[in-house]
Amino acid sequence: MVTLLENPFRIGLRQERTPEPLILIIFGASGDLTQRKLVPAIYQMKRERRLPPELTIVGFARRDWSHDYFREQMRHGIEEFSDGIGSEDLWQEFSQGLFYFSGDMDNPDSYQALKQFLDGLDQSRGTRGNRVFYLAVSPKFFPPGIKQLGAAGMLKDPLKHRIVIEKPFGKDLSSAKALNQVVQRVCKEEQVYRIDHYLGKETVQNLMVFRFANAIFEPLWNRQFIDHVQITVAETVGVEDRAGYYETSGALRDMVQNHLLQLFCLTAMEPPNAINADSIRNEKVKVLQATRLADADNLENCAIRGQYKAGWMRGKPVAGYREEPGVNPQSTTPTFVALKLMIDNWRWQGVPFYLRTGKRLPKKVSEIAIQFREVPLLIFQSVAHQTNPNILSLRIQPNEGISLRFEAKMPGAELRTRTVEMDFSYGSSFGVATADAYHRLLLDCMLGDQTLFTRADEVEEAWRVVTPALSAWDAPAEPSTVPQYEAGTWEPSEAEDLINRDGRRWRRL
Ligand code: BG6
Repeated sequence: MVTLLENPFRIGLRQERTPEPLILIIFGASGDLTQRKLVPAIYQMKRERRLPPELTIVGFARRDWSHDYFREQMRHGIEEFSDGIGSEDLWQEFSQGLFYFSGDMDNPDSYQALKQFLDGLDQSRGTRGNRVFYLAVSPKFFPPGIKQLGAAGMLKDPLKHRIVIEKPFGKDLSSAKALNQVVQRVCKEEQVYRIDHYLGKETVQNLMVFRFANAIFEPLWNRQFIDHVQITVAETVGVEDRAGYYETSGALRDMVQNHLLQLFCLTAMEPPNAINADSIRNEKVKVLQATRLADADNLENCAIRGQYKAGWMRGKPVAGYREEPGVNPQSTTPTFVALKLMIDNWRWQGVPFYLRTGKRLPKKVSEIAIQFREVPLLIFQSVAHQTNPNILSLRIQPNEGISLRFEAKMPGAELRTRTVEMDFSYGSSFGVATADAYHRLLLDCMLGDQTLFTRADEVEEAWRVVTPALSAWDAPAEPSTVPQYEAGTWEPSEAEDLINRDGRRWRRL
């Protein structure tokens, strides 16, 4: 047996490394993401002794906060959104490394002042000039922020300076290309960490282990045995208080171009040569390059949008999207998308991949279902009127796990069959809760491992795949042309037609 490293799938091995001392500078530090996700994830790593004692965080935002006020806010975040402070001594040590810097992302003077402040911290905290700049801000600040960091010479050392860019990375292919150019003018690709938090989910990483550390699936993983694949990311939440962002985004930009296409890539890509950032990302780019909407000239056959109207969720009435605060009552923004994708390569020719995602659906569930072909001849036809095809289902969340559906003989003298499931569940097999995605992604970025981050060409290819639907749906349209679905139901009937037309059905999860 050939082995790459000792065992390429002992991903845990890398986690045992500790990052170099560094300063993490969070732009947008007064926002939700910092308080709910980023700082609680870092504190958790501190509790697990994964971080160097010198680790320093500088929150950058416009508001006029003091270091102490920032520390208090972060403490609230840790208490409310994670396992709490634990030992008071640990919090004291951690909070000594938290600082706040009030600045304006458009103003070059702010960057000069920030630079001096960081240089000072290098002296007092021993952070050796290592920096991670995290852009947790509205996307309109990405280009000026990156340009200003470049102009201030803060990204010039590829070994010491990294930048993390939150989603959305552009709003279409041309804006993503333009943003990549801004990035590439001031730094090298190895310094850039484009975040897609789905890649930080344990079960998403397990997809690769499942496919490439087990010998039995690979021979079946192709057009000869697989009938089709369904990828579902369903949410129960509505737009909440994010109308400002969501109205300009919608489900195709918010979920499909990034999260669903990442799940798609990991399901469909060829085995990488090794488990390292470039080998994996090369394979993801290759599969995206071969991917297209099934019938881009007739979108109704391969891309359906929908919008939730008023309905019921868990016995309570909820408003329709157009009635939500901040949403245009004539809005055509999709809150649901279903796509049929085809991959033009040897492995997948003729195998449709159906993707769907939406808000205000009946359940929060993310799943990849591989449906196998029917048996060539049903010899039990006289006794079993109908058997069901085998389905391998990879549950990303909740109840993380994998199950295989197959037919079995029911006990008794008669020959009757029934569908049964063989199930693996993370919770019962490993007995530990899976960590938050940001935990893993922040640690990898500090360690300089880009495997779970998207590369420039990958982001662009993903935009290319969805471009025909984006262009059509961005064009002004009568609100009545957007299919509606009742909140708390699965999809508009047009999305059912999309798959039923092929003699298939959406899974009811
Ligand atoms: C975000 C989207 O990227 O992902 C949200 O902007 C969405 O609209 C969220 O709700 C879903 O993430 P998760 O981890 O809850 O599945």
